[in-house]
Amino acid sequence: MTRLYIGLIGAIALAGAALQPSLSRAQSNNDISYNAAMRIFRIDAAGTTYAFGINNVDELQPVYWGPQLATNDHFPATHEKPEAAAFDASVTTTPNEYAGWGGGLYVEPALKVTFPDGNRDLVLHYVSHQIHQNDLVITTKDIERSFYVELHYSVDPHTGIIGRSAVITNGTQAPVIIEQAAAASWSLPRGDDYSLRYLTGRWAGEWGLQKQTIRPGETVLQSKRGSTGHQNNPWFAIERGEHADEDTGEVWFGALAWSGSWRITVEQDQLQQIRVTGGFNPFDFGYKLLPGQHLETPVFYGGFSKDGIGGASRLLHRFELTKIVPNAPNPRPRPVIYNSWEATGFNVDEPGQEALAEKAASIGVERFIMDDGWFGQRKDDHAGLGDWYVNQQKFPHGLKPLIDKVHALGMDFGLWVEPEMVNPNSDLYRKHPDWVLNFTGRPRTEQRNQLVLNLARTDVREYVYGFLDNLLSHNQIAFLKWDYNRNWSEPGWPAVAPDEQKAVYVKYVRNLYSILQELHTKYPNVEIESCSGGGGRVDLGILGLTDEVWPSDNTDPFDRLRIQDGFTYAYSPGVMMAWVTDSPNWVNHRTTSLTYRFLSSMQGSLGVGANLNQWTSTDFATAKAMVEAYKRVRETVQHGSLYRLVSPRDGSEVSVTESVSLNRQQGVLFAFLHSSQMGYPFPRVYLRGLDPGKDYRISSISGSVASDSPEVASGSYWMNHGLDIDLRGDFQAAAFRFDETNTNTHP
Ligand code: GLA
Repeated sequence: MTRLYIGLIGAIALAGAALQPSLSRAQSNNDISYNAAMRIFRIDAAGTTYAFGINNVDELQPVYWGPQLATNDHFPATHEKPEAAAFDASVTTTPNEYAGWGGGLYVEPALKVTFPDGNRDLVLHYVSHQIHQNDLVITTKDIERSFYVELHYSVDPHTGIIGRSAVITNGTQAPVIIEQAAAASWSLPRGDDYSLRYLTGRWAGEWGLQKQTIRPGETVLQSKRGSTGHQNNPWFAIERGEHADEDTGEVWFGALAWSGSWRITVEQDQLQQIRVTGGFNPFDFGYKLLPGQHLETPVFYGGFSKDGIGGASRLLHRFELTKIVPNAPNPRPRPVIYNSWEATGFNVDEPGQEALAEKAASIGVERFIMDDGWFGQRKDDHAGLGDWYVNQQKFPHGLKPLIDKVHALGMDFGLWVEPEMVNPNSDLYRKHPDWVLNFTGRPRTEQRNQLVLNLARTDVREYVYGFLDNLLSHNQIAFLKWDYNRNWSEPGWPAVAPDEQKAVYVKYVRNLYSILQELHTKYPNVEIESCSGGGGRVDLGILGLTDEVWPSDNTDPFDRLRIQDGFTYAYSPGVMMAWVTDSPNWVNHRTTSLTYRFLSSMQGSLGVGANLNQWTSTDFATAKAMVEAYKRVRETVQHGSLYRLVSPRDGSEVSVTESVSLNRQQGVLFAFLHSSQMGYPFPRVYLRGLDPGKDYRISSISGSVASDSPEVASGSYWMNHGLDIDLRGDFQAAAFRFDETNTNTHP
């Protein structure tokens, strides 16, 4: 989304305009309005209204966030709330769009600073605003000092999702330390019947969906790891009432676009007011702003759905595909890929990869990706990271012969890289031991035998960009799998002054983003996957610069049902890579059929990562048929609307997902029987999202339906009468396509 940045000079110039705020009502495409009489801002889009006012003491006070109200509904002017007894001053009892820590604020501040004279009191008042199409920028200023915060609001007219961020400018004559800076605080309607959903996990066990009642106090979701992390994802959803579920109920949700240490707090205060505040993690934070400098926060997106958590996910998916990913609003479909990792590990070489490529091409794979092991002295994970030259023993003639072979087979070529890391056993580290994050004289903690390069340093940034540029300009590479296999330790930056070192939390990530951006500009056709030992770096920040993500190293197709289910609460199946690998699976030794593995992976963006050298001719035939079937539904699965019909969570014996194409001409259903008990038949499945008045023909991708099931029936029939699927046994799966027949017999 385009962002309007006024900057310090503009802010000062606009300060005078505060006295006569202009009345700017929606022109045709303008969903943002300002009522000057009441001093109320109102954002209306896609069935949602968001409103806040400038109150009697010039603070920005939230008014409303929920279903769209009538255009002629007017909000009364806002007034600060009274103090609550002697213990909660009105600054604490009055909700605030973006509160500075000052004046006796006890709830979570959006911004906390220290001025060099020791003053730590910051009270932000409205100065001026600008509305430009779907963007609103409000300038606020400290009551005494030339310290400015611009609040940015940008609304997507199609989903009603609002992106909020802040630009903090030091207009004083001395440096200021920012100790805590959120992108935004979101206030929900007052209440005590909310529940919070969030995502937790660990390596190979990501995307666990948690749900808890919101009680008085604060819940903290965060990463202190330097990157997004597997353990918590920067996404939340809040439902109201006891009866909210997949399809019904009001849901407020949000996601933070930041791939560094982050924090989201969810508070219910003593007046039952709910605030969600998110941005940089204040832990170990301290960003020095020199006079005239500014700090821009990440964007915190927020949205509202009255169609349950399923509706909230669909809005987010649509938003990600049309507003976030690099080729939005028309993201390219994910090709069917093959990846060598689980087949060959670090033992990659020219003949071995060529043999795999031939077999991959034979089943219809479109992109062949060589994973770890091709560079430096890389034999295992003890050496080589940082030395990005082709290993001569493994590839005596460079990468060209393999790439040519892959092209001749009709596929494009992708390569694994882990640009931000170095093994101590590497030429790069021997030459530049000072390039890693470290505190002078302290141990350098290794994880997976590697250290983190300090990408905040200009020389490191240039090195990383340089080798990637070199790789891409000299080889016909269509895709990079960009890995990141550890979190930070000892996050020091000895080359800069002690009071500038903590800026590493911001500058590292900004440089990462700038490298990705520069590569995208220079090589617009090269696609990138964000991987961090699986799903350790998935967020709306990295998704703005990468085309897909690897949700987990856990490729067991049954575990994957839950992993994928959790993933889709926040992120689209159109960016979710899912590989078919070997059985028994390396994670848990579970044995499943090849068909089951395919159907599990076909709910996302399909890949194959099995050791094809061990496949039988029957396996190849099955795989070929599955890949072919997938290509006929991939647009629907990747870019359509997802309905989680039966969740695999909470010990469920079955799970079912359905995707419907945007034009509703196709539906795809995936059904899984985990373990059948007591001989009950598979529960009847009620489809959703089809056009009730159109006819759809069912065809099997795999598996069968009850013998008396019709071949053609209306959307209404499939959704209301439902479908009986014939599944028995353990780890069984079936999938069906519903294609509109074009005969509209039900007007
Ligand atoms: C990480 C990734 C894997 C694989 C290995 C290679 O663990 O998640 O998919 O690429 O690194 O070392």
